Parts: sequence; C-alpha cells; structure tokens
Amino acid sequence: MAATSVVVLDRGNNTTCTINLHGATVVSWRVNNQEQLFVSKQAVFDGKKAIRGGIPFVFPQFGPWNFGPQHGFARIVRWNLEKAPERLPSGDVEAIFSIMDTDFTRSMWNYTFRLTYRLILREKELHFNIAVYNPSKDLTFSFNMLLHTYFKVPDVRRCQITGLQGCAFMDKTRDGAIYQEARDVVTIGEWTDRIYQNTPQEHIITNVVSGRKMRIQKYNFPDTVIWNPWIDQAKDMGDFGDDEYPNMVCVEAGHVSSPVILLPGTAFEASQILQVM
Ligand code: BG6
Repeated sequence: MAATSVVVLDRGNNTTCTINLHGATVVSWRVNNQEQLFVSKQAVFDGKKAIRGGIPFVFPQFGPWNFGPQHGFARIVRWNLEKAPERLPSGDVEAIFSIMDTDFTRSMWNYTFRLTYRLILREKELHFNIAVYNPSKDLTFSFNMLLHTYFKVPDVRRCQITGLQGCAFMDKTRDGAIYQEARDVVTIGEWTDRIYQNTPQEHIITNVVSGRKMRIQKYNFPDTVIWNPWIDQAKDMGDFGDDEYPNMVCVEAGHVSSPVILLPGTAFEASQILQVM
C-alpha cells in the first residue's frame, strides 16, 4: 500500500491547509471553510504529473528546461515530511517538508542540495518559509524558485492586482518582449503570461472568494508572475477544464528573471505570507 501522501494542518474553525507530498503541493487552503485555492477538476493525481492547481513548488528551473521537465523537478518528486503538523503555543499549526538530491535529481542537475519548506497556518494567513542549502565544499550552483500559486476567484475579469505600476515585465504572450506597466492596478481580460521584475514586497488581489481581498507579502522573491491561460490555451491543456479559466488567477512570487547563485556552504532563504483580508 502506498504511504499516506496527504498532510493536513488543522487550525480549528474549519481552517485547514492540505499538502500533497507529491511536489509538496499545497492543494487546499480553507479559511472558515472557504477554499482559497483553485485546483482544476481535471487535475491528475498520479504521483507523476505536476498537480494542476494549488501551489506547485517550482525549482530549480522556471519555464522550459533543456535538462529536465518544465518548471524543474521539485513539483514532481515526493517530498519528506520533516516535521508532522504541530500546534504552536500561539495556536497556529506548523509543518516542515524537505527534499535533497537523489540519483533522479542529479541526472538533471548534478548538485547536492537540501531544500526545506516550512508552512505555518494561522487564522487568516498561510506562511511559507523556504531555505536552500548548498552543502558542497567547492561547487557553486544557481537556480530559479517560484511558488506557483493558483488563487480561486469567482470571475478573474473582476480582479485587480496592485503593486505592479512602473515595473518592467517580460510578456511571454509576445515573444518575451519587455514593457513597462503603466496601470496602477492590473486587470485580466485575455491570455496573460507576464514576468514582472523587481516588484514590491506586497500585492493585493481584489474580488477573490467571497468578494474579499488577498494580500501577498514576499521576501527575497524579486519577481511576480501573472498567468491566466484564457480560452485557447485552456483548451490545449489536458488537465485543465475548458471553462475553468475565469475561476483562477496565478500570482506567483519567485526569483526567476535572474538566478539565485548559491556559494558552497551557504543558504538562500525566502518567504511568502498569504492573508485573507
Ligand atoms: C506559468 C508560466 O508560470 O506557468 C506559463 O509563466 C506556463 O508560461 C504556466 O504556461 C503553466 O505551466 P505548466 O508547466 O504548469 O503547464
């Protein structure tokens, strides 16, 4: 029998967070019973494919990769449960997940590494603390990292995303051309796939579930990717329903437009806080 592949953090009051050890993918975050994350009805849970929705963990590559799968291997390997969910004195619940190099990862990316992912579930917040350690004595490595968060929304056309005005962005729907964002809030009404660079620490998305706002705070993640496949791209994805695109928006905190360069014996840390307002 396969070992348990799902870990649940339960804060009480119908506030829970569920993590699938396949990719350490956060597949559900409920606040007072209200789901905050989008997972496609057609998502595949075969322990091989990346899960379509929730929060896939992108590492060590963002986008297509010559040496392995798109968006790297972290979202398709089984993670270890380093520390089972535990209630902290504050009442919040913490769990820690980890991966390190294996024959499989070294076949694509020949480095030793250790990656820990700590999640803390609070009343209306989910905290993510990430550390990558390079244990080598002499080899430096570089990587991209990103939390590919799919927010659940009633209608993406009614969402506004703050914090992007003045930022340069690469538009992947236009052959990677670079533009500068003029709008004080970004709205989505077509296929959108943009890497905003040097974004501020905070974004707010309006009109998420129950008409609320979602605050994203990020540290050591200089980039913000905004993605919605819209009609045609949705049809091209086997694990995404044709009519689901209005109900999601990906706002992804990452370090992707330049690599993190990690010297031997050092660690990189980054974090994110999601807050229902
Ligand atoms: C986004 C990328 O982050 O992820 C898009 O910017 C990509 O280009 C999308 O299409 C989904 O990727 P995947 O590999 O999960 O289909």
